[in-house]
Amino acid sequence: MARVALVTGGTRGIGAAICKALQEAGHKVAANYAGNDEAAAKFKAETGIPVYKWDVGDYDACAAGIATVEAENGPVDILINNAGITRDGFFHKMSKDQWSAVIRTNLDSLFNMTRPVIEGMRARSFGRIIVISSINGQKGQMGQVNYSAAKAGDIGFVKALAQENAVKGITVNAIAPGYIGTDMVSAMPEEALKRVVAGIPMGRLGKPEEIAQMVVFLASDHGAFSTGATFTVNGGQYLA
Ligand SMILES: NC(=O)c1ccc[n+]([C@@H]2O[C@H](COP(=O)([O-])OP(=O)(O)OC[C@H]3O[C@@H](n4cnc5c(N)ncnc54)[C@H](OP(=O)(O)O)[C@@H]3O)[C@@H](O)[C@H]2O)c1
Repeated sequence: MARVALVTGGTRGIGAAICKALQEAGHKVAANYAGNDEAAAKFKAETGIPVYKWDVGDYDACAAGIATVEAENGPVDILINNAGITRDGFFHKMSKDQWSAVIRTNLDSLFNMTRPVIEGMRARSFGRIIVISSINGQKGQMGQVNYSAAKAGDIGFVKALAQENAVKGITVNAIAPGYIGTDMVSAMPEEALKRVVAGIPMGRLGKPEEIAQMVVFLASDHGAFSTGATFTVNGGQYLA
């Protein structure tokens, strides 16, 4: 069944692949982004998917942005909390700004984006909420205490929210990608990236499309009995 899907950070990387796959599955898709207008315009021209700029770390901006998306597209039945950033560094050298930026964008955003849509989902007795966590929220990663804490928080969020809303036909799940070939991973130093790939049994980075197809399944009617779970997609790098 075709539904309205909203994807945060939907104009680049994994989010863009999720938008395209949901569109191919027949859904009406809206993509949010933060500030890269050029990438958003290119994505919109290529896909025809409408784009909406706001900061997922800002509650009022999320409430206003979602109201606009719903006025233009209809009520959001599928929410993909995908937007995320890294601000890496060892904890003993980490600034409060590095900590706060990651917690705000990657974890506060779950409240900011989900709170405005959950009552409507409950009233309509249908909803799909999917959070893009990370392998590093499952295993922890040196140099990413901030990111690992936020991404582990995603997993607790889905477990609790799933229990509260199962009876209302709403499923809440996380996907924990391993290392995927996007701008976020290209920003890593070359030597560090080589070491990461050497530790992946499949010997390669993942593709954004390999995350997107997991989203399509979880968002579909076939995914109705899966909730509160974290789905690992990491080429065998960490077996949670
Ligand atoms: N790539 C990986 O290997 C990997 C692995 C595990 C988990 N993940 C997670 O997967 C998600 C997507 O990662 P990616 O690699 O596709 O990232 P990416 O290529 O860097 O793209 C990030 C997207 O998020 C948007 N964004 C960033 N901050 C935002 C904010 N405050 N408000 C709204 N949108 C914001 C960006 O918008 P602009 O274009 O406007 O900047 C962009 O569309 C993230 O949550 C990441 O932590 C990635």
